[in-house]
Amino acid sequence: MSVHSAATARQTTQTIIKKKLDGEKISMLTSYDFTLAKLLDEAGVDIILIGDSASNVVCGNSTTLPITLDEMIFLAKGVRRAAEHALVVCDMPFGSYQISEQEAVRNAMKILQLSGADAVKLEGGEEILPAIKHMIQAGVPVMGHLGLTPQSVNQFGGYGLRAKGDAEAEKLVHDAHLLEEAGCFSVVLEKIPAALGKRVSEELHIPVIGIGAGNGTDGQVLVLHDMLGLNEGFKPKFLRRFAELGVQVKAAVAEYVAAVKDGSFPSETEQY
Ligand code: KIV
Repeated sequence: MSVHSAATARQTTQTIIKKKLDGEKISMLTSYDFTLAKLLDEAGVDIILIGDSASNVVCGNSTTLPITLDEMIFLAKGVRRAAEHALVVCDMPFGSYQISEQEAVRNAMKILQLSGADAVKLEGGEEILPAIKHMIQAGVPVMGHLGLTPQSVNQFGGYGLRAKGDAEAEKLVHDAHLLEEAGCFSVVLEKIPAALGKRVSEELHIPVIGIGAGNGTDGQVLVLHDMLGLNEGFKPKFLRRFAELGVQVKAAVAEYVAAVKDGSFPSETEQY
């Protein structure tokens, strides 16, 4: 069974790069805790991302900006304990890599040392290239992130489609090449036109993973809570819901509440 064989190999940055060479699409999902990460790992996902989207879906913030380095490390530890096969990538949160190259390297190393994650992901192109180069020189595997970069929401003024115009598209292509030349093992492209996602994937040798970047990228990533239907109000065009767990969770909880209230839980067989 393909799920079983997918789950037998331990993924590394090198096996992820090889998938592109072999023409195998790469699957990536976010996870923020041990229990769900274990299910993802057993189901054969290639990469688990402890995304800073945890700020939204775990902590209830309206942006990714408030989550801290220590909070990301706390979440990543649980995911690391669960993942026996998937590559574990942890987002560097806002403020942890923009101040200086030295601080960026120190924080990236802290993530790897304390959480056991295999790699870090950070948002941006040319403007954060010196930090990325220092991290890679220090032995930290780095995944880039271009297009819609949610940590810059206050600069963009929202979460709309990025790189629609020629100038922004050309900058994105330029940045993607810089990230590859700097030694990133992969790049995420978020919410850009499909044709641009395909072009960047064709031009780069490293895997390009898309979210809202069309079908021409080397792999796809989604936020777990969104694709499971747990985040009921969120339904952008690029999102496919592979389950409606929000509906199921509410039905199960309502059934539990009713069973407690009417005294039918616990039954004879559910007590000592
Ligand atoms: O934080 C996150 O979940 C991400 C994905 C959207 C790629 O960066």
